[in-house]
This record gives sequence, structure tokens and C-alpha cells, in this order.
Amino acid sequence: MKIMVVGGGGREHAIIKKLKENKEITEIFALPGNGGMANDATLINIAAKDISAIVDFAKNNKIDYAVVAPDDPLVLGCVDALNEIGIDCFGPNKAAAIIEGSKVFSKNLMKKYNIPTAEYEVFSDLDAALKYLDTAPIPTVIKADGLALGKGVIIAETREDAKEAVRSMMADKIFGESGNNVVIEEFLTGPEVSVLSFTDGKTVVPMVSSMDHKRALDGDRGLNTGGMGTIAPNPYYTEAVAKECMEKIFIPTMNAMNAENRTFKGCLYFGLMLTPKGPKVIEYNCRFGDPETQVVLPLLESDLLTVMKATTNGTLSDCEVKLKNGAAACVVMASLGYPQKYESGFDLIIDKSVEDSVYVAGAKLVDGTLKTAGGRVLGVTATAESLGEAINAAYGKVNFVKFENAYYRKDIGKKAMEVK
Ligand code: AMP
Ligand code: GLY
Repeated sequence: MKIMVVGGGGREHAIIKKLKENKEITEIFALPGNGGMANDATLINIAAKDISAIVDFAKNNKIDYAVVAPDDPLVLGCVDALNEIGIDCFGPNKAAAIIEGSKVFSKNLMKKYNIPTAEYEVFSDLDAALKYLDTAPIPTVIKADGLALGKGVIIAETREDAKEAVRSMMADKIFGESGNNVVIEEFLTGPEVSVLSFTDGKTVVPMVSSMDHKRALDGDRGLNTGGMGTIAPNPYYTEAVAKECMEKIFIPTMNAMNAENRTFKGCLYFGLMLTPKGPKVIEYNCRFGDPETQVVLPLLESDLLTVMKATTNGTLSDCEVKLKNGAAACVVMASLGYPQKYESGFDLIIDKSVEDSVYVAGAKLVDGTLKTAGGRVLGVTATAESLGEAINAAYGKVNFVKFENAYYRKDIGKKAMEVK
């Protein structure tokens, strides 16, 4: 069986490594993948947003099943285009991917179906937004409507900062068309939990919960990044919280999408905040999270391809989704300076002994030598019986990866370990 995975980061590497456990798979193509995955997949130099080239490749190479992992191709309708030529895919169609593609859509969906989330207002007019900010509660949260590489959220501590954020999105268009509409919402507090789930529109099956570490520096300081590390399970996500989320958020969201004729099939990611007033949705993603996937999939016992196909076929309720006991930690190694200016092009040496635990995000092969090629270079994951052991093991493995200017947080999982 020939599989194609669209995307090229650490998440895709984790998906590919997990898929490889299935012995029916004869070949995996990564579009475009990256040089660090060359041992696990055949790299095809087609960008994840180039839908027509992806479709042509799938047709010409008789691909049996496709996994579309990143938000951009999903929101652009990659799944619809592949389905049109008869190729089954893991991932939502365009109509359903809007749950991530438009924050205005997702906020309105939650309001209409009583799904707990922050209070909000939507603005398409700059002056109206600025006027609202004269009296809005501070701090406040400003979100660009569309995709913005995970950077479209600004938490403003002062009225002036809030106005500046709105101007930069709506007038200066720092996120392009994504800033045509903005959501201004209530600032919530509480621990954050990521829950990635499989859903076929009839059943929702959550995988193990996880915790991201978004800030660049230890102690959750510094700039927001694409994620500097993850742990799973998230200790704040108790059985009681899980039950409440299932009843008040997960099933209602699935039903709401069905009611809107936008049945969601694939991985639905719930970004939650456990507020003093109960769990609330901070964001939906229409895909596996990065770097959550790097801890969640190693704790999936079941065969990934079998579960993915059940999701596509609408037979998820008949499919056993078994999770492993124990815990996982992932430490992201980045180029010094990320998420701002950084240098790359350095030799990247991954010792054979840790190769299986490394998910490469930013690397390329230059004349057969692996070089760093991105802000986030890779994630190193370890699993163990307890979270403490998993964290120690992940940091132990970090010592077996070498590149110049390597930077990583030293406190991944520290907060989780302090939870009683
Ligand atoms: P997002 O890009 O939607 O994941 O948002 C990035 C981060 O901003 C989240 O992980 C939260 O830490 C924070 N955030 C988003 N919305 C809110 C909110 N309403 N209140 C407090 N923090 C928020
Ligand atoms: N780690 C957050 C995301 O994948 O959007």
C-alpha cells in the first residue's frame, strides 16, 4: 500500500514513524517532507499548499491513501481535490476545515450551540473596533480571523497595545487578508490543555491529553513560538474534567458541525483553558497539533492507519483506539534566536542510538549531509512509566543530538510535575 503524507515538519515525521508500524504499507511519500525524514519516507519536492501538484502526484503514483496534516492545504480544500479523483484521505474537507480557518466561524458556532468559550465581539470595521476598545475590559485578546502561522493572537495588557494590535491587523494587514475581520475576546485564565481527537462525525475518540510550552524561554517567558516542547498526559486533565469536556464541548462540537452540514472527519484538536468557571475552548484546530503529536502518537497503542481509515469510512465506533499507559515528553531543539532571527545551515548530527526518538522539523540534505534549515530543528521524545522519567529520558537523549547554536528550554514538563 502506498501512502502519501502532505506536510514537512516534526508532526509529519511523527505521523510517518507511527504509520511505519503497519506492515501493509510498502512506501510512504512525504510532500515535501524534509531532509531529516529521508530514512523514513521518500521525499517529493512539492509544497504542501500546491494542491494541483499534489493531486497530479497522487494520480500518477497510484497513491492508496493520503494524510493531509497541515492547516493550509486542509483549509484550501486538498482533501476535496483528492477525493474528487477517488483518493481517500485522513483530514477534514474544506467545509469542515473552516473550524480552524476562520475564528469568526468557530466563535459564532460556539455561541450558536452553547459551547463554552470566551465572550467576544467580531469587527470588520477598524473604527468600530477602536471605539469598542475604549471601554472593553483589559487585558483583552485580539485574534485575526484567518490563518496566521499561529501568530494571529495578541494578548494586550493595555488599551493602547490593544488598539495597536487591531491597527496592525486591520490597517497594516500584517497577516494579509486574515486580518480583514478580527475577534476581540475576553481574557481567560487557567491551565491550558490540548486534546487531539479522532472523529468521523458520529463518534469522538480523544487521544491522550497534552500540554504545550509555547513561550521561547524558561519559566514561560519570552516570545510565543510554534511550541518548544510538550508533555502527555496533562495532569490538569483529570477524569472528571475529561467527562465534562466530552459532554459540554466534544460531542456538542461534532453535532454542531453536522447540523451546519460541515461534518468533520479527521483529527479535531481542542485547545482548552480550564477556567474557574469550567473548561472553555480557546481554539479549534482541524489537524494534529505540532509538537503535541510528537508526544500523543508515541502513546497510541493501536495501529494509526487502521484508526485513520475508520475515521474516513465512518466506522470509528467499531474500531478499537487503545492508548498506552505511561507518559511522554518532547523537547524541541531550535536554532538560537528563534522565533526571531537565527542562523541555519549547520551540520546536524543525530546519534544512531536516538534516531527513533527524533522528529525532524527543519533540516535539509546538502550533498548527502544533513544541515539545519529552520527555526525549530527537531523534537526529541521519550516515553516512560512516569512523567518524571519521561522528562529525564528526553533530556538525556538531547545530549545525543548536535548542531551549532542549538537552543532548547530546560524546563519542559516542570510545571506539570508541580501539579499535585
Ligand atoms: P492560539 O493561537 O489561538 O492557540 O492562541 C495562542 C495562545 O494565546 C493560547 O495558547 C493562549 O495561551 C492564549 N490565548 C488565546 N485566547 C485567549 C483568551 N481568550 N484568554 C487568555 N489567553 C488566550
Ligand atoms: N501546538 C499548537 C498547534 O499545533 O497549533
